[in-house]
Amino acid sequence: MSKLYERLTAYGNSNVYPLHMPGHKRKGEKFSFGNPFAIDITEIDGFDNLHHPTGILKEAMEAAAAIYGAEKSYFLVNGSSCGILAAISACVSFGGKLLVARNCHKSVYHGIILRRITPVYLCPDMVSGWGMSSGISPEMVEAALLKNPDVEAVLITSPTYEGVISDVKGICEISHKYGVPVIVDAAHGAHFSFWDICESAVFCGADLVVESLHKTLPSLTQTAVLHKNSIWVDEMRLEWYLQVYQTSSPSYVLMASMDSCIDYAVSKQGKEDMGSYVRELQNFRKEAGALSHIGLLSGSEAGGFSYDISKLVIQAVGWGGKELYEKLRQDYQIQPEMYTENYVVLMTSMADNSVVFHHLFDVFVDINNKCSGNCGKLKEKNDDFQPFPEPQVVLIPASAIEKKKTPFPLEQCEGRISGEFAYLYPPGIPILVSGERVTVQVIETLKRYEKKGFEVLGPKNFKAGELLTIEEEVEDFG
Ligand SMILES: Cc1ncc(COP(=O)(O)O)c(C=O)c1O
Repeated sequence: MSKLYERLTAYGNSNVYPLHMPGHKRKGEKFSFGNPFAIDITEIDGFDNLHHPTGILKEAMEAAAAIYGAEKSYFLVNGSSCGILAAISACVSFGGKLLVARNCHKSVYHGIILRRITPVYLCPDMVSGWGMSSGISPEMVEAALLKNPDVEAVLITSPTYEGVISDVKGICEISHKYGVPVIVDAAHGAHFSFWDICESAVFCGADLVVESLHKTLPSLTQTAVLHKNSIWVDEMRLEWYLQVYQTSSPSYVLMASMDSCIDYAVSKQGKEDMGSYVRELQNFRKEAGALSHIGLLSGSEAGGFSYDISKLVIQAVGWGGKELYEKLRQDYQIQPEMYTENYVVLMTSMADNSVVFHHLFDVFVDINNKCSGNCGKLKEKNDDFQPFPEPQVVLIPASAIEKKKTPFPLEQCEGRISGEFAYLYPPGIPILVSGERVTVQVIETLKRYEKKGFEVLGPKNFKAGELLTIEEEVEDFG
C-alpha cells in the first residue's frame, strides 16, 4: 500500500491531465512562488495577523478589495465553507429565517444548523434533459419575500457547479427593496472579475460574496475570499464570525498563494493568458458543440440568466455519466471533476492552454465516433428526471439533529421524518435534509442512485439499506 504523499507525487508525475480543481492545474513551474517550507511561518514580526490585520495582510486584502470592487475583502484559509458560515452568521440572528436556494452546498446547511435557522427554500427549475438545477429568478425571490416578511437574508449559489448563473443584479434589487441583504455563494465564480464574459456577483450588487480562488484560478486548495459591499451587514459581527470559523494558525503559504494569484490575474501576463484561454475555450465550444453524439451544455439550454462557459458539462449518446467519466480516465488519461447519473463536468481554467484544448477536441471527436453506433438520442431519457425532490420540512434541521433517532429500512420510511441528510458528493447538494418528511420520490431517488453504483453519503447505515428517522412530536417547528 502506498503512502498518501507517494501516491500524490506519482499522480503529479503521471500524464493524466487534470480537468478538475484546483485551477492551477498542478503547473507549479508557472504559479509557484518557491519552496513552501521556506515561507511557512507563524505570526512573527513583520508578517501581521489575519485575525487582527494592521500590516502586510491588511494591505494585501485592501489591494484585493480594490481589484474586486468590494468595500472590504477577506482572505479565507478554510475555503469558501468558512466564508459561508460567517456570512450566514453575520446576517441571520440565532433562530432567524433565511431564504435559501435548495441547491446550496452543504456548508450552507451547516450554517443553518449552527444558527438554528428556519430555512425557507427557493427551488430552482430543472434543466430539461440534464437533471440539474437551473437558476433562481428575481420573481421567485420577491414572491417568497412577500410570503415571509421576517426573512433576514437571501442566499443563492451563482454560478452553480455546472455553471448556471442567476440574475444576481435583479435579485439584489428586489431584496434590497425589502431591506434584505443578499449572500452569493460564488465559490465557482472567482474568475468572473478577470474576464468580460459575465459579471461578478460583487459587481451585481450582492452584499456578501464568497469565492473559492482554488476552484477556478491558479491558487492553492482551501484559498478563498469573502467580499463585503453592504449597508446592511455589520462589519464587526462579520469579522467576529470569521475568527470563530477560521483556524487561529492561518497558513502563510495559503495566504501567499492568494496574494500571488490575484496579482497574477491582474498582471499583463495574467490578462494575456486569460485572453488566449477565452479564445481557445470559445473556439473549442463552437467546434465541440457541432458534434452529433456528444452534448455540451450551452447557456441557452441551461436556462439561467447567464452561463459560465469555463465549465464543460457533457453527455454522450448511449453512455451514462459514470461510463463517460470512466472512459475519459481510462482511455484518454483525462481526470474529470465529477460525474452524475447523466453527465460529466470538466473544469477548465486560465491555466489550460491551446495544447490542452486541441487534445481535448481530438478526444471528443474520438468519443463521438465511438458513440455514433449507439442507439438513442442525447438527453431523451432524462426529461422527467428530478434529482432534488421538493422538500417537506417538518422540523428545522437543528432540532432534528438533536432528536433521538431510530433506524428503519429505507423502503418503510415513507411518511417518516428523516434524522439524517442524504447527498452525493460532489456536488454535496442534499436530496434529503434532517427533519424533512421522507416521500416516495425521495426513496426512489436514493434507491436509483444506489442501484447505479453512486455512493449516497449522510446516512450512517445506507449500505445496510437503513435510514435513521425521528419519532413525530411536532412541537418545535414554526
Ligand atoms: C457551490 C459550492 N459552494 C461552496 C463550496 C465550498 O467551497 P470550499 O471547498 O472552498 O470550502 C463548494 C465546494 O465544492 C461548492 O461547490
